[in-house]
Amino acid sequence: MCGIVGYVGGRQAYPILIKGLTRLEYRGYDSAGVALIGDSGKLVIYKTKGKVKDLEAVTADKDISGSIGIAHTRWATHGEPSDINSHPHYSENHNLALIHNGIIENYLSLKTELTRKGYHFQSQTDTEVVIQLIQYMMDSRSVSLEEAVPLALNLVVGAYALVIMDKDQPDKLIAARKGSPLIIGVGEDEYFVGSDASPIIEYTHKVVYLGEEQIAYIKRGEDLRITDLRNEEHTARISELEMSLSEIEKGGFPHFMLKEIFEQPRTLKASMQGRLHPELGEVKLSGVIDNRERLLGAKRIIICACGTSWHAGLIGKYMIEEFTRKPVEVEYASEFRYRRPVIFPTDVVIAISQSGETADTLAAVKLAREAGAFLFGICNVVGSSIARATDTGCYTHIGPEIGVASTKAFTAQVTTLFLLALSLAEQLGTVTDERRAQLVNELQRIPEKIEKILQHDGEIADIAKIFTYTRNFLYLGRGYNYPVALEGALKLKEISYIHAEGYPAAEMKHGPIALIDEEMPVVVIAPKRGNYEKILSNIQEVKARKGRIISVVTEGDTDVKALSDWSFEIPDSEECFEPILSIIPLQLLAYHIAIAKGRNVDQPRNLAKSVTVE
Ligand code: F6R
Repeated sequence: MCGIVGYVGGRQAYPILIKGLTRLEYRGYDSAGVALIGDSGKLVIYKTKGKVKDLEAVTADKDISGSIGIAHTRWATHGEPSDINSHPHYSENHNLALIHNGIIENYLSLKTELTRKGYHFQSQTDTEVVIQLIQYMMDSRSVSLEEAVPLALNLVVGAYALVIMDKDQPDKLIAARKGSPLIIGVGEDEYFVGSDASPIIEYTHKVVYLGEEQIAYIKRGEDLRITDLRNEEHTARISELEMSLSEIEKGGFPHFMLKEIFEQPRTLKASMQGRLHPELGEVKLSGVIDNRERLLGAKRIIICACGTSWHAGLIGKYMIEEFTRKPVEVEYASEFRYRRPVIFPTDVVIAISQSGETADTLAAVKLAREAGAFLFGICNVVGSSIARATDTGCYTHIGPEIGVASTKAFTAQVTTLFLLALSLAEQLGTVTDERRAQLVNELQRIPEKIEKILQHDGEIADIAKIFTYTRNFLYLGRGYNYPVALEGALKLKEISYIHAEGYPAAEMKHGPIALIDEEMPVVVIAPKRGNYEKILSNIQEVKARKGRIISVVTEGDTDVKALSDWSFEIPDSEECFEPILSIIPLQLLAYHIAIAKGRNVDQPRNLAKSVTVE
């Protein structure tokens, strides 16, 4: 959740670190800090509550020289956002500095023990314990830093990606990971460290993904040395980064979120590329072809995910059940992992995660692995932990998603789930060739249909202004569009801070109808396929109670429109693709309401992009 960046090489570290932090700020943004070994040889730390620009203000009149440094942008877990709790943290003698992403679960017992031994803690963080423990190992056992790091990390329970600097070794960083990602960029006589590739991509495409429980000794002028917690040596495998710098820049849009909403026609094509074959009326997924027996033999499919990915999973359930007739259960990964679920070795577990790092989803995958289930990952970030922990899978290939509110990942996940459903159906013979060809042809047309919806951005922005002071919203949908109601409500609440709830439309009369009055806007997703008449009745029920209706309808609709105060049209499509279209106006509505309220849409309060803590 926090952002980590490190540099050692021949250039000035500070500008690289600050630029890296700015690129990583979407991961966490309540405080920022940097540690440098300056020309004077001193190890200095500057840190502050607030954004990266606040850190720049703090350092404006300070010595920021030095060609080695580490920097951090924080999403608070232990201890409120404050200057003191910001990273980096010093060790007792101020010789070492550390930045950390993750949670140290046994920090209290370690802190008590270290305090008893005379170590002094400045912050309320769990992080500070790690650097104090490392110094304690050096002090008490008279070992080097390199020896102390694995000794200390073996005592730590929890998750971490961390980087350490030592005043006495101004050409060396030590990095380690367990449960949180860490990438090392390999340049010419220089190294970069990042919690993802975004601070590195500008300088080098050669990277090493640090493995689980591995420690990297990163010394300028020497090859990378990698060991693990048992001190076994590992080869540093260099991979080529596929992303480009333009993918992590705003490209003329005021916010990443808007850019990513508008990218969807292109990103959807990327998710289908090489997989959808309209000329043959087929879908080809190598993950399915290579694991045919295991997947087709599944008695049951369980989908595990969190947040938006969970909403995509619900749509995936409808698709897989419709096309393959196999039973599908959709689970919140956080519930699944702790409730002793019944998992059979004949089950297939599909884990969906944009980041591929969500702690609960990763834990669910590990649990399913222990029970012998077959694991299929749908991730966006290539090489991420969930992608690696699953047996096979399918990347969504949409490039980095930087806006904290997920948009293009959702439509890509739904598309990928469709590809999976249809490819299984093809093998199982549960869909006729003719029907399959129809679906494949229609999916190919979806990107241009999204283009058409996006042309109405200006109108949606105008309507959004009406709701600047609205306090509550209700979202209703049925069938394939029920998860869209959940997702539309989530988008609105996370970036505008307006309370919004999504419901299956028919459930309204079992409770939420009590909320409806002239103050309550009700967003109804009512395209013409599937349950149209039923949702029309639900709209009548809202209208009868003076609720204000915002509807998403199919082009040419008259009945729902006649009852609505405002309507957004989407082109007609197959029922199973309606969610990919109906979510677009709702993403734009949420974005424009948040803008009208003056919110920071790319960095909404309390949220972080990649939830690597449970
Ligand atoms: C909402 C949002 C979150 C994520 C959730 C899972 O806009 O972004 O709800 O969907 O944290 O994240 P991933 O997909 O990375 O596992």
